[in-house]
Amino acid sequence: MITFDFHKYQYKKLKEYDLSHVKKQFLKDNNMAGWYKLNEPAMEDIKTTAEYIRSNCDVFIVIGIGGSYLGARAVIDALSPYFSKTKPEIIYAGHQLSSDYLAELLDYIKDREVMVNVISKSGTTLEPALAFESILAFMENKYGNEAAKRIFATTDEKTGTLLELSKEKGFKRFVVPDDIGGRYSVLTPVGLLPIAVAGLSVDDLFKGAEKAKENENDIYYYATLRHELYEMNKVVESFNIYEPKLDAFAEWLKQLFGESQGKEGKGILPISTVNTSDLHSLGQYFQDGIDMMFSTTIFVNSTKEIKIKKYNKTLNKVNELAMESVAQSHYNGHVPTTVIKMNQLNEENIGYLIFFFEMTCMLGGYLLEINYYDQPGVNGYKDILHEKINKDA
Ligand code: PA5
Repeated sequence: MITFDFHKYQYKKLKEYDLSHVKKQFLKDNNMAGWYKLNEPAMEDIKTTAEYIRSNCDVFIVIGIGGSYLGARAVIDALSPYFSKTKPEIIYAGHQLSSDYLAELLDYIKDREVMVNVISKSGTTLEPALAFESILAFMENKYGNEAAKRIFATTDEKTGTLLELSKEKGFKRFVVPDDIGGRYSVLTPVGLLPIAVAGLSVDDLFKGAEKAKENENDIYYYATLRHELYEMNKVVESFNIYEPKLDAFAEWLKQLFGESQGKEGKGILPISTVNTSDLHSLGQYFQDGIDMMFSTTIFVNSTKEIKIKKYNKTLNKVNELAMESVAQSHYNGHVPTTVIKMNQLNEENIGYLIFFFEMTCMLGGYLLEINYYDQPGVNGYKDILHEKINKDA
């Protein structure tokens, strides 16, 4: 169960924009709105393949960047134990260009049974392509002709280098739907295969997303509230978490909002804090820095009972009191907060939040009058790098 407190730490009850026409327009015009339909693509194939992977490897490598890996990582980290390593161990690659990381990974997996999911909608993104080049060579060297049975490609149905390579090598393929962009793709094979390999329920994720869709009014309210704060020059939104398992979820949120809304000189800059750790670093700025922020706090009720004798309270209660005190104090320091509470960490609640934030992002983009599905700014550095990287090639 998820509850929202939009008002307690807010300046006033903000006006609600009438967005009723938005949805009609968005469903009519938008050829990238596939995520909203909550189709369950290739579910049986995903579950069977995930079972096969779970029984046949020690390490499952997920290669991808941005929207092609952050969603899976957000869900898996949120719902996996802190200390006991799950089998298979899930390791990410192709999300940066660190030589140390790739070399150490190749060394780490040399005596382990490995399977790989390479994910790229375009099939041409530099980081995953370079990581896959080395990992494919490793797999072919280790498994010879059997390597192809251990590699799964998630990519476009019709075009791209990864598609061509997959056909040539005979990798099993999953399709990224045409009408769903990277950062909205966690509930497609992009996110679902790794999530199912982690042993999590993809059905419950969808159940949660459906519930969020049924409660659209909350989403409309939150989206308009964010926009009104933006119009009051609150240009930075901090996603604050009090359960570090949600760290990757906050990274997913930053990518979703940053890449969708930072355009044409507009947009709210998303940042995140992992509390209470960051109260001992960024907290000072929230309290006394430039007046430009608002917060969205996600609090998870822990089901683990740890009694703190000194205060005759559970540790979870102390964490909750810390969250409330911070919201109150930051509100006094001009940082209004929306509080979202989850009764526990599970697939249904995470699925709920995924849909909740995806739709918020779409509505926010609409209010900003920008295209919330493209990311033209990302090409700036790519063009320069392309020229440099091809010199003397
Ligand atoms: O959200 C997006 O569209 C991007 O972050 C992409 O997911 C990211 O650039 C990776 O692209 P691709 O899947 O084509 O490799």
